[in-house]
Amino acid sequence: MKVALITGITGQDGSYLADFLLEKGYKVHGLRRYSSTNPIKNLQHILINKKINKNFFLHYADVTDTDSIFRVIKDVKPIEIYNLAAQSHVHASFQVPEYTAQVDAVSQLRIIEVVKQINPKIKIYQAATSELYGNSNKKIQNEMTSFAPISPYSVAKLYGYHISKVYREAYGMFITNGILFNHESPRRGPTFVTKKITAGIKQIINGKQTHIKLGNLNSKRDWGYAKEYVESMWLMLQQKKPSDFVIATGQVYSVRNFVEEAFKYVNIKIKWKGKGLKEVGINSKSNKVLVKIDPYFLRPNELHYLKGDYSKSKKILGWKPKVKFKELVKIMMENELIE
Ligand code: NAP
Ligand code: GDD
Repeated sequence: MKVALITGITGQDGSYLADFLLEKGYKVHGLRRYSSTNPIKNLQHILINKKINKNFFLHYADVTDTDSIFRVIKDVKPIEIYNLAAQSHVHASFQVPEYTAQVDAVSQLRIIEVVKQINPKIKIYQAATSELYGNSNKKIQNEMTSFAPISPYSVAKLYGYHISKVYREAYGMFITNGILFNHESPRRGPTFVTKKITAGIKQIINGKQTHIKLGNLNSKRDWGYAKEYVESMWLMLQQKKPSDFVIATGQVYSVRNFVEEAFKYVNIKIKWKGKGLKEVGINSKSNKVLVKIDPYFLRPNELHYLKGDYSKSKKILGWKPKVKFKELVKIMMENELIE
């Protein structure tokens, strides 16, 4: 039986990847860190399912703690490691930049070094990101586009990307960087903009909140569906040679578009009024203000536009996105309202 180890298993991608690998017949091990609260909501469905939970194991460890990583990798003996653990919030990385560097940069080195010592044949997936491109002068970004990170998060991820390449080239290790563009789902963390919008709409509908406070409405992202993006991580590790791959939809929408589409799902048409910090989103029928701008959510540095070219992944991995923007919003809203 194939054995995989996932760091970041409690997060959005880690939980979908666990579902995917269990379905493929893998034994799945995951790292969880100590917490005073209970961050395993995304894994509950696995833990209570007797058919699959016999192949599912959680280990207390932390990617900033080398000994714990060493212990888990030595005990578990994985053939594949998916390093998804991260302080993954770009805005938060401006508030905790040094911590972000420890988790998002140095931890990848820790994992690679431990693998090199225990069994350099273990294949490693590193969660790189479209944030690496920064405000690129290319209208569409692919594996050849140069990086120009603009946040502590993306600078840390740039280290993870390069250290992976260095060990690949210097020691022949199988390490691949997945350059994934934004991907969302009902399991997205509550402070990321898409989930904040869908959850906010539910609160408004239930009369528990009057409006949603947002930052920059005009930034544009290439938004895909997390559930289908995790398959690409697995495909990258099934190749003969390690390489780096862009995973994206090739379509771009703004935060404003997301707000409009999500409200449309509950039959509310949003009209926009005012400018800058005074701009508001109004219910076109009732004239109630449903969206306001809060400067707290503006970033010291904003990445304005991302659009990914996934043609290498399509050609080599045979991967392409099926769920596009409108379908993604529908999946998130549908789930939000039945939860
Ligand atoms: P996420 O939901 O924020 O999950 C992050 C995971 O990392 C959580 O399981 C978290 O555990 C864990 N973690 C954080 N610090 C840790 C530490 N010190 N030790 C062990 N585990 C730690 O992120 P995601 O959206 O699933 O993304 C997965 C990966 O892909 C991340 O590396 C992210 O940077 C990258 N990425 C994401 C996107 C995207 O659009 N989602 C795009 C490109 C790249 P807790 O539950 O305990 O907090
Ligand atoms: N989080 C958040 N909250 N973002 C907001 C808000 C708000 O209230 N209002 C506007 N935005 C804008 C942000 O300024 C940004 O331009 C855009 O919405 C998306 O923000 P996030 O959802 O936080 O995602 P991100 O693009 O910064 O980062 C995500 O994608 C990266 C890949 O490009 C994260 O998942 C990263 O981990 C990932 O690497």
